[in-house]
Amino acid sequence: MPNQVSLSPHGPTVSDVVYGTWRMLDDDPKPSVDSLVARFEMLLELGITTLDTAEIYGLYTVEAGIGEVFKAKPELRDQFQLITKCGIDVPSDTKSTARLPHYNSSTENIIECTEKALQLMNTDRIDLLLVHRPDWFSSADDTAEGLQKVVADGKVLHTGVSNYLPSQFDLLQSRVDGKLVTNQVEISLLEMATLFDGTLAQLEEQRIRPMAWSPLAGGRLFDPKNKAGVRIRKCMDEIRRRYDGASDDALAFAWVMNHPSQPLTIIGTNKEDRIRSQASAAAIKLERQDWYALWSAAKGTPIP
Ligand SMILES: NC(=O)c1ccc[n+]([C@@H]2O[C@H](COP(=O)([O-])OP(=O)(O)OC[C@H]3O[C@@H](n4cnc5c(N)ncnc54)[C@H](OP(=O)(O)O)[C@@H]3O)[C@@H](O)[C@H]2O)c1
Repeated sequence: MPNQVSLSPHGPTVSDVVYGTWRMLDDDPKPSVDSLVARFEMLLELGITTLDTAEIYGLYTVEAGIGEVFKAKPELRDQFQLITKCGIDVPSDTKSTARLPHYNSSTENIIECTEKALQLMNTDRIDLLLVHRPDWFSSADDTAEGLQKVVADGKVLHTGVSNYLPSQFDLLQSRVDGKLVTNQVEISLLEMATLFDGTLAQLEEQRIRPMAWSPLAGGRLFDPKNKAGVRIRKCMDEIRRRYDGASDDALAFAWVMNHPSQPLTIIGTNKEDRIRSQASAAAIKLERQDWYALWSAAKGTPIP
């Protein structure tokens, strides 16, 4: 069962397995509000109390989908921590002034995104607002001012970033009065860049937990044409007996969560049996040599 943990020394308290909503409305047929209410209730029953979304998910439709759930069953809102992200503008009805995809983490856009998110999600506050991607055209001062303003207004309780390099994290942190509480980055057996580029080391040093997106590499781990994925799953067959026969997806989540920076993992499936098995990963303590066996299987080489 997922654990309640502090994301950073400055909060907030979240579940260490998070439900991601990027693909929440992708099923065909589109899920009904009743089925989403049932899914959110199932998440709570499993101990998953944190939802990850973003302005752009579902081409600007997922935040409203979450809002429909809270409208149908208002008591659900206070049982979840709500994380959203802002700053990606792509041409669409919602972003009628966008001529091409671009980033915008200016003060003005952060305030606008926040107000829209509150309204769409039928809530009076966002527990954690993340800058979705580094915006090379906004100064750190500009982004910091927006983050501070939405916090000062009581609309956002905590702020953080996503897909930032350590130097970008340091720069923004140097301009923000409050503390950034996470960096949400891609981490999986098939995407280990943050283990090597200082991202996870920086967060561990500051006792800030990373949030790991695409912990199954967006499903590539299960692609029979993916040679690293095939090696990893063969290795899982050899070690799973030591973990009560844990499934491949649970072991892949556990591999991420057992890194010493203690990443939270974000679930990307809508399927109940998979959500259940991925939630179970929070209880798996991988043995050192099994963690390295999976590392080596992923790389296709022994450790250097
Ligand atoms: N900050 C960012 O820039 C960023 C970027 C991407 C994602 N995210 C967040 O991270 C969350 C998770 O990302 P993700 O959806 O890419 O996660 P993921 O778990 O790596 O990938 C989900 C995909 O894997 C498939 N899958 C899951 N379990 C499986 C299994 N047991 N066997 C075979 N296939 C399986 C799913 O298919 P089914 O649906 O058929 O189960 C789905 O297509 C998102 O919802 C979003 O909240 C953040």
